[in-house]
Amino acid sequence: MKRVLSSIFIAGSLLLGTVVASASYAADAPTVKPDAKKGEQLFANGDAARGILACASCHGAVGNSTIPTNPNLAAQPHEYLAKQLSDFQAKNGKVPLRRGVNGANTIMSTFAALLTSQDMQNIALFLSHQRLDYSKAPTATNKDLAEAGQKIWRAGVDDRRIPACAACHSANGAGLPGEFPRLAGQFPSYIAEQLKLFRSGDRANSDIMHDIANRMTDAEIAAVADYAAGLR
Ligand code: HEC
Ligand code: HEC
Repeated sequence: MKRVLSSIFIAGSLLLGTVVASASYAADAPTVKPDAKKGEQLFANGDAARGILACASCHGAVGNSTIPTNPNLAAQPHEYLAKQLSDFQAKNGKVPLRRGVNGANTIMSTFAALLTSQDMQNIALFLSHQRLDYSKAPTATNKDLAEAGQKIWRAGVDDRRIPACAACHSANGAGLPGEFPRLAGQFPSYIAEQLKLFRSGDRANSDIMHDIANRMTDAEIAAVADYAAGLR
């Protein structure tokens, strides 16, 4: 992984190809075309017959959440969302790749377990077409952290080979098609928590993000999380 990170540093664009090529969600590829209408239906209403709660009850109408513990989902890339839902599931008797603090299951482990791979594709497609309402979305909360956060975002931290976040999450934080999530307008507390979960390995679904977070201090995480949330 050290080698991979060095190459991010030297050739960010080359690495993008590597990351996409190593994506593992293909195993959950749908058998039929994703259907955004069915995704909308399941997201908004759940499915009582299968015990699935309405996703919107926590993640807000069309994925615009108003509760900081529940991330915004609107306008995230289709592949990213489908991968997360799959990574919350326990597979082959193993613990899920994506877990919470100290390896505990997250609230999502329960819900994701009830979804078929077709459901995940349908919901992911629906959400990727939605708009995040930036007029109401979370933003940066701490002016004192802005300078440090901006530096990490744009240039990384050279002496510890932390790459610029902008290389993969885009300059304005909107993410990139495919596997690279949007961070702009996400809750700063959620962003910081995920970085810590990558660092501890409780969220073990991205070697790249583990390696990056593993090089970051709590102060750097707090600064860049706040800054990223405020990007537009
Ligand atoms: C009871 C509240 C609740 C419900 C209902 C719920 N979620 Fe979540 N969801 C959460 C929380 C909390 C997280 C953050 C989990 C974590 O930190 O590991 C999350 C995370 C996610 C993520 C990862 C987002 C990211 O940026 O990586 C996706 C995707 C998701 N939920 C989709 C869904 C879908 C689809 C449904 C409906 C089938 C649903 N959720 C129902 C609370 C909920
Ligand atoms: C080489 C590309 C790359 C770089 C550089 C990078 N990221 Fe990521 N990041 C990713 C990928 C890919 C994912 C999706 C991982 C997954 O599949 O769960 C991700 C996911 C995340 C998430 C989880 C988002 C969510 O909704 O749960 C956060 C937070 C994050 N990155 C923050 C950062 C920060 C802060 C930096 C800079 C210090 C950074 N990233 C640099 C590729 C990168």
